[in-house]
Amino acid sequence: MTIEKENSIGLLDSGVGGLSVLSELYKIMPNKDYFFFGDTKNVPYGTKTPKEIFKYTKDILNFFISKNIKTVVFACNTTSAVAYDDLVDFFKDKIKIYPLIQSIAKNATEGLKDNDSVAILATKATINSKKYETELKKYNPKINTYGIDCSGFVEIVEHRLYNDPQSIDLIKEKLEIAKKHNAKRIILGCTHYPYLINLFKNILDVEYFNPAKTIAQIVKNETYDENYKGSSLNFYVSDDPKQFILSAKTFFDVKEAQLVKI
Ligand code: DGL
Repeated sequence: MTIEKENSIGLLDSGVGGLSVLSELYKIMPNKDYFFFGDTKNVPYGTKTPKEIFKYTKDILNFFISKNIKTVVFACNTTSAVAYDDLVDFFKDKIKIYPLIQSIAKNATEGLKDNDSVAILATKATINSKKYETELKKYNPKINTYGIDCSGFVEIVEHRLYNDPQSIDLIKEKLEIAKKHNAKRIILGCTHYPYLINLFKNILDVEYFNPAKTIAQIVKNETYDENYKGSSLNFYVSDDPKQFILSAKTFFDVKEAQLVKI
């Protein structure tokens, strides 16, 4: 099978979070060659400075260019919030980028009425950027948005601390804020958080919006090629592949043979 650059899609994230996006894409469009980069050496991104996040993202984009990939999905809210605006012009002739927040904002506001409350659970860097608020309000300026810095959630996922009482306490503390604001909808503003959705639902029963499904549909609408018969999954990480494989399980049964450490 020959891999066609037009049918290759790169996805990037700091770690296993982006697999929640890849799994949605793969479900609805398996006939593509997927190249997933998890920057596990630098995870979490959410506590890093915008300058650091910019550099990590730029390096990964250059890696994708070296692989001749022309389409890249930022399967990461933090890079979409902090690095996309500064990178897009620089890479525009080489790569088509789908930033997460900007791509899904319209869908994320659908069905909301004026004065409805929307809570955004996200990393510190995403919350500080106010990118969600800015993008959502383009489509409905009258909703009330509340950003909740959920620092610590990414570590729960990366280290599989789902049953740790401290993890549950932290999740309860953050969802309590959403409850106080009477959130009608909660946006999973970090691609690691779909791993926690069952815990969330047990603690607070509201509507959860997972951007992964929406961005997958958008990318499919723009890139689907019914004549392409290829299909492959290729994973790259910047640190210990074994940890990545263990944490990936919820969304992908990644095999060591499919994974390369860069
Ligand atoms: N999963 C990423 C996001 O959507 C990055 C999380 C992190 O590394 O802090 O924001």
